[in-house]
Amino acid sequence: MDIEKILAKMTLAEKIGQLNQIPFKREDFPILCEKIRRGEVGSLILSSTAYAGFDAQERGYVEMLNALQRIAVEESPSGIPFIAGRDVIHGHEVVFPVPLTQAASFDMEAVEDACAAAAEEAANDGVRWTFAPMLDISRDGRWGRCIEGTGEDPWLASCMARAMVRGFQGSNPALEGRLAACAKHYIGYGASEGGRDYHRTEISDYTLYNTYLPSFRAAVEAGCLSVMSSFNEISGEPVTSSRFLLTDILRGQLGFDGFVVSDWNSILQQIQQGTCQTRAGCAAAAIHAGVDMDMVDEVYLENLAALVENGQVPMTVIDEAVRRILRVKARIGLFTRPYTQIRPIDYKAHEALALKLARESIVLLKNRDHTLPLCKDESVVLLGPMAHEKRALLGSWTLDFDIRRVHSIAEAMESAAPGKITAVQDNLPDRMLSAAIHASGALVLALGESDTVTGESHSMTRLELSAAQTALARDAHALGRKVIGVLCYARPVALEEVEPYFDAILYAGHGGTMAAQAVVQVLYGDYNPSGHLAMTLPRRTGQVPIYYNASSPARTVNGYYNGGYATYEDCAGSAMYPFGYGLSYTDFRFGIPQIEGCLSLSALVDGSALTVRTYVENIGPCAGTALAQCYIHDVCASMARPVRQLCGFTRMTLQPGERREIEFRLDARALGFYLRDGRFTVEPGCFEVYIGGDCLCKNGTAFTVAEDGQ
Ligand code: GLC
Repeated sequence: MDIEKILAKMTLAEKIGQLNQIPFKREDFPILCEKIRRGEVGSLILSSTAYAGFDAQERGYVEMLNALQRIAVEESPSGIPFIAGRDVIHGHEVVFPVPLTQAASFDMEAVEDACAAAAEEAANDGVRWTFAPMLDISRDGRWGRCIEGTGEDPWLASCMARAMVRGFQGSNPALEGRLAACAKHYIGYGASEGGRDYHRTEISDYTLYNTYLPSFRAAVEAGCLSVMSSFNEISGEPVTSSRFLLTDILRGQLGFDGFVVSDWNSILQQIQQGTCQTRAGCAAAAIHAGVDMDMVDEVYLENLAALVENGQVPMTVIDEAVRRILRVKARIGLFTRPYTQIRPIDYKAHEALALKLARESIVLLKNRDHTLPLCKDESVVLLGPMAHEKRALLGSWTLDFDIRRVHSIAEAMESAAPGKITAVQDNLPDRMLSAAIHASGALVLALGESDTVTGESHSMTRLELSAAQTALARDAHALGRKVIGVLCYARPVALEEVEPYFDAILYAGHGGTMAAQAVVQVLYGDYNPSGHLAMTLPRRTGQVPIYYNASSPARTVNGYYNGGYATYEDCAGSAMYPFGYGLSYTDFRFGIPQIEGCLSLSALVDGSALTVRTYVENIGPCAGTALAQCYIHDVCASMARPVRQLCGFTRMTLQPGERREIEFRLDARALGFYLRDGRFTVEPGCFEVYIGGDCLCKNGTAFTVAEDGQ
């Protein structure tokens, strides 16, 4: 496909049409036909509102999309097909866990497979482009959108970015059943002040390069075809108008060669942010910064021709934006395959994958005296607001689900242990409830949050359980039975107050279509939990932001390592459950890391690496999957470095008594960091490496990167 040839034949109006994205609504079909026929539509967004995360968007429009596409190809002036985009965030008809829940699996292969399955299903609905993966690092569970991201850690977020881009796009995004991916929201949106959505962010260049940029760098390296600019401003500059961020860094330093789409209304929102006064001004600022496509503002369509004619926007800027969009359309095969052909889908296989990922994402936080797993022949009383719930289990940003595929926890428990479950409905008479409790061996409390209190524009000031759910836990505890908490919260929760009421706690996230079956397989030990936290769980909301990979404060209270957090007057400083934490029904022992050889700075810079080795041993009663995590600490550098930072992880299933040797490669990427001017550096000096089952692991070894010539 000769993009230059196509571009050379296009009029200015046709070029500007390619930069315009408008919403698809069935009732707008006649208007859409006219706009497309006039060449004013480069893209359709299959979402009828700015809050696509909440309302199930209409489906079954493939024929309509094909009809519109036929107009674009056969009747519009340029004959260029439009690209149809949709928020395929964590599934389509079969829904996978929300991304933050998926991240707790640390299973990148399963994450990639899930994205590939979602792409296959969405492509059948005429989708060619997904507004995913969402790669915003978040350290604040109050921010509703933390559930869409991959947590607090840049290394894990980078691994998720690569897995998701590969899953959506495959090795060849032009093949059927693939989608163009979109790394979003570039950049720093997760640092919204106070967890308030859309609010300002204050991010130094040093933090930008080392915390927020790595996952986008990984997505670009994985070949991500598009990037979405974010709503927020960073230290006074809206990302939408930042040439430094959108061109100098994204293109100049990361080498991104796809196209940038704005977020919904974000070009016009520069007026709200106080940096533009007119629609034309908004358009000029965004196109100069490097925003190629306008998501639903239509300010490019309305103003760019005049801006070119009055010399404010050079034609070369327009041409480059169009070139990027046409290049992506060619790479996804849109010119050669503009229409959707429905293909057979193996939904059963997708459900099996959803079950695998959901159960691998469940984190066992507590298991006093081996309360879990339950026996299927013991009577259980199931209580709580999530016992019969289905929709909430799918989480936010679920647009195309089929609720008929979803079971409740009550249904899943009944089918696992027929006749042994008393699932409390509101109308259960007290005397029956007390009889059931008296006869039961355990109380399972299915607690959690609705999908509608997470996601976009749904932040919370409290991460503690609601008063009602806290009271239920307290009352259940007073009954003198084993109490198991199943927490279906997608965001981090603050558990200090309720933790004592539970004998066992499963943090199940919003696990998607197969969430209930996954929970029940873990409850009964059909699956030994292997999830690990992708985001710190605080004791109380007042500790937020709290995250493990912080540099050390100038003073640490009594030197006890827990990120060195000073203690509050009214609360311990440490996390309730730290990043990387997760228990198993068995126990694993990690050896002391051994470093082989030593390394000079120049060797490291030239691509050599140190190897750190140790072992993991299953010293418990049953098979289980261990997650070996490798953390480093650069003890002294020209900039303060995190007291721990993840630089590798590996999952392995071990039989009782089995021992496995493991090793991690410590190369420049693992040991180096970015200076505030964006230069990457590895500095000589002392490092510590730790390997274990969470970020507080104690098994460590020191090593030195020698100055050259030493
Ligand atoms: C929303 C979200 C973005 C989404 C877009 C299209 O406002 O910020 O993540 O992809 O609009 O629905």
